[in-house]
Parts: sequence; C-alpha cells; structure tokens
Amino acid sequence: MIEVSNVQKAFDGNPVLKGINCTFETGKCNLLLGGSGTGKSVLLQCIVGLMKPDIGSITFDGTVYTNNKVGIRQEIRRKIGMLFQGSALFDSMTVAENVAFPLQMLTPEMSAEERRDRVEFCLKRVGLENAGTKMPAEVSGGMKKRVGIARAIAPQCTYLFCDEPNSGLDPATSIKIDNLIHEITHEYNITTVIVTHDMNSVIEIGEHIIFLYEGQKLWDGTKDEILNVEVPELKEFIFSSSLVRAAKRVDDEGGLAAITDEQGANI
Ligand SMILES: Nc1ncnc2c1ncn2[C@@H]1O[C@H](COP(=O)(O)OP(=O)(O)OP(=O)(O)O)[C@@H](O)[C@H]1O
Ligand SMILES: [Mg+2]
Repeated sequence: MIEVSNVQKAFDGNPVLKGINCTFETGKCNLLLGGSGTGKSVLLQCIVGLMKPDIGSITFDGTVYTNNKVGIRQEIRRKIGMLFQGSALFDSMTVAENVAFPLQMLTPEMSAEERRDRVEFCLKRVGLENAGTKMPAEVSGGMKKRVGIARAIAPQCTYLFCDEPNSGLDPATSIKIDNLIHEITHEYNITTVIVTHDMNSVIEIGEHIIFLYEGQKLWDGTKDEILNVEVPELKEFIFSSSLVRAAKRVDDEGGLAAITDEQGANI
C-alpha cells in the first residue's frame, strides 16, 4: 500500500497540490482521475520521486520515501515500474533490448541467459512473444504500450505507475491494454496507480478511484459507487460524456433497458 499524507506542491507561489491525503491499495488498480491541469501528473511525479513535495510525505508499505536516506529511497525505487505516456521506448533498440534495459540497470548480477529468459517471459506475458527482434518504429501504438508494460514489469516490480496508458489508442485497443494491466496487477499482487481521464477505464478497471479537482482530493471510491456520487464537480466530470449518461440510465433501470439517448431514442 502507498500512503500519501498532506502532500503540497506549488510552482512560483501557485499551489498545484493543496494537501493531498490518499492511499493506493495493494493488488488493485488505483485510478487517479481528474480533468486537465488538476495536478495528476505532478502528484504521480511526487510519488515516484521525480519531484519533491514542498510539504507532506509518501510511504511505501510502511517505509517513508520522502526525505529518507538515499539507500532506502533507492531500494524503493528499484521496486517501481513505470509505463510512460507515449511509451517512451528507445528508438535505436529492438523490442527485446528495450525490455532488457531495466534489468541491465537494476540487476547487473543477472546472467545474460537469465536476462534473456526474463525478457522472453515478459514479452510472452503481454502477447508479444514474436516481436522481440522488431524495432519500435515497426510496431503499432498498442504494441508499443505492451512493450512498455513488459519493460515496466521486467524487474518484478511491486509498484506500477501508468501515466495515461490509453492515450492515442482506439477504444478496443484501450480496453485490451486496461485489461492487461488489471490482469498483471492481480496476478503479481502489484500496487498499480493509473493516471487517467478516461471514463471507459473507470468503468472497466476502477477498483479504487481517487478524484482530484484543483489540487485537492474531492472523492474516492469504487467504479460501482461512482455513478451515484453527489459531489457536483465529480458529477460534472463523469456525466460530460453522453455515453456515461446513457450507461447510468441503463444501470438505474436494472440493466434491462436499451441504451437510449436523453429523448429516449436508441443509440
Ligand atoms: N514543472 C512545472 N513547473 C511549473 N508548473 C507546473 C510544472 N508541472 C506542472 N505544472 C503546473 O501544475 C498544474 C498541474 O499540472 P499537471 O501536469 O499535474 O496536470 P494534469 O492533471 O496531469 O493534467 P493533464 O490531464 O492535462 O495531463 C498545471 O497548471 C501545470 O501548468
Ligand atoms: Mg498529466
């Protein structure tokens, strides 16, 4: 479990995070949800240590990360896997070399054969067993995300952070990527944090959702609770999509009604 306590961050006197308190649960997909500019990426960067909070602390399974000794911070850092927005693969390396990269950096004691086996295992786990020799430019956007996931889990991470894993993907591929992250989270009991503003992901894999608004946490709960919340800012956010409004009507009518628009026409 990751615990965030009173995290505050300002840039040039402008507060961006205004005292965030939240927890990310082990073995679950924890979604950090919110509109553009609400501080999701800043919070994520504070948690993984790429940015330092002005005030507050972050604890990983009981060990304080913020302002702790370098050795302790490094130990936690080794357990963090990160799927970057846009995948951020190394263009000049093959798919397999990309997945091997964190192993070379983090576990230099691994033999070349062990490394090869681990890369093969991770590529197989994300359904890319035949793509190891391809270059990133030769694979699709969805495949790049899969390579990014394989690279993130290669060093057997305990914590997995994904910044907008669906950006740039079509809806069907997005759901496949969401489901893959969900499966891996449960299979390896990882604490997964996914930054998103995609309501499809919320409905699909939102086991624990934290809603940020103007640098504050306004709500947290599950995908089953989110459609019935009474927080005006969250309602405005989730029901800005007509598909979600339609889904709620189906839900209210016991799941039997056809999906209709506000006037009752089938959509
Ligand atoms: N390094 C920085 N220096 C100054 N301001 C920053 C910096 N990083 C972020 N900000 C500001 O902090 C605010 C929150 O940014 P953040 O990137 O966290 O938003 P976000 O919720 O991730 O939005 P999006 O959904 O568009 O990615 C923005 O107003 C942004 O301009
Ligand atoms: Mg962002």
